[in-house]
Amino acid sequence: MKLTTLQVVLGVTLAAAEAQCGHQWTAPGPDDFRGPCPMLNTLANHGFLPHNGRNITKDITVNALSSALHFNKTLAALMFEMALIANPAPNATFFTLDNLNVHNVLEHDASLSRSDAFFGNNHVFNETIFDETRVYWTGPVLDANMLANGKVARQLNSKAFNPKYTFTSTMEQFSLGEVIAPIVAFGDLEAATVNRTLVEYFFRNERLPTELGWSIRPGVVSLDNISKLTGIMGNATSLITTAQPVVSTRDLHAGSFF
Ligand code: HEM
Ligand SMILES: *[C@@H]1O[C@H](CO)[C@@H](O)[C@H](O)[C@H]1NC(C)=O
Ligand SMILES: *[C@@H]1O[C@H](CO)[C@@H](O)[C@H](O)[C@H]1NC(C)=O
Ligand SMILES: *[C@@H]1O[C@H](CO)[C@@H](O)[C@H](O)[C@H]1NC(C)=O
Ligand SMILES: *[C@@H]1O[C@H](CO)[C@@H](O)[C@H](O)[C@H]1NC(C)=O
Ligand SMILES: *[C@@H]1O[C@H](CO)[C@@H](O)[C@H](O)[C@H]1NC(C)=O
Ligand SMILES: *[C@@H]1O[C@H](CO)[C@@H](O)[C@H](O)[C@H]1NC(C)=O
Ligand SMILES: *[C@@H]1O[C@H](CO)[C@@H](O)[C@H](O)[C@H]1NC(C)=O
Ligand SMILES: [Mg+2]
Repeated sequence: MKLTTLQVVLGVTLAAAEAQCGHQWTAPGPDDFRGPCPMLNTLANHGFLPHNGRNITKDITVNALSSALHFNKTLAALMFEMALIANPAPNATFFTLDNLNVHNVLEHDASLSRSDAFFGNNHVFNETIFDETRVYWTGPVLDANMLANGKVARQLNSKAFNPKYTFTSTMEQFSLGEVIAPIVAFGDLEAATVNRTLVEYFFRNERLPTELGWSIRPGVVSLDNISKLTGIMGNATSLITTAQPVVSTRDLHAGSFF
């Protein structure tokens, strides 16, 4: 029996090591390109994408999103095509992480963890900005409402204080995809929830939260799964609710709601 337990433990350890094989995390160096996307930066840090953040081709993107996060390959190819517009070269066949930093192409205002371009650097993780978002992450398990509230709060802050605030309906669609992305990478697709500790670790370290016990989901992530989540998130950004039973003023004065 002892041998069986040992074999199981060894087997699990080996499987975990195998998943990480060749994909150790290494911090970016001074000449490595990084961008506004915490996940693409993460995948470059792990070597799923070129560590220097350059020459990211379709094959490289599809293999990275498929092997690191079990994205459907058709979906990953679609995402690559969208990224390609960020490379200004005619008929480009690759993009760099630095290409993504150009403001108002794919990068937009009111990011969850980056400053608006108007205020300074629009692509390096900024803890002050991330704190504005995290105020609304009010439980240990993030749900659609908490994620939506953080997003709307960042937009309100930008709209109020950034005279150049820009947020088109196309940007809104991308933004909804970004806000649900932590659920897609680390969470529960069915419940639309994700462990807050894993998400904070990911944003701050640009590293897969493997050492916190995360492992790649067994199933494949489809465009359907993402569309469903963006629909839920779009609804959750609304500030309108259904009617609730009104608490009478008598009860309020009595201090009793029970
Ligand atoms: C080819 C694939 C991808 C491209 C080209 C891409 C590009 C971008 C860009 C340009 C932004 C910046 C938008 C902004 O101004 O906030 C962004 C943000 C983001 N991306 Fe990606 N992304 C890709 C895949 C992914 C994947 C697979 C995930 C995770 C499952 C992800 C997670 C995020 C998150 C969470 C943000 C929001 C960061 C923030 O608001 O601070 N991305 N992405
Ligand atoms: C990018 O990679 C492709 C395929 O590996 C290669 O043909 C091309 O020369 C590379 N381009 C640059 C700019 O490094
Ligand atoms: C990926 O998605 C495409 C198109 O939506 C579908 O035809 C294909 O079966 C999916 N592949 C996997 C492995 O789920
Ligand atoms: C880009 O592709 C188009 C259509 O295939 C072609 O006409 C054009 O010459 C190409 N441009 C460059 C700079 O290669
Ligand atoms: C973070 O963003 C704030 C607000 O835009 C800005 O004042 C601050 O300089 C930024 N911090 C860093 C380290 O870039
Ligand atoms: C994810 O998508 C797959 C294929 O489209 C589907 O079978 C599955 O039910 C979806 N899961 C959720 C939680 O939506
Ligand atoms: C979230 O993940 C952390 C790190 O693995 C774990 O300690 C914590 O118990 C998890 N929280 C919940 C609510 O499952
Ligand atoms: C979003 O709200 C609309 C209107 O209440 C509803 O019809 C739709 O099913 C909701 N979508 C999701 C994905 O929950
Ligand atoms: Mg931004």
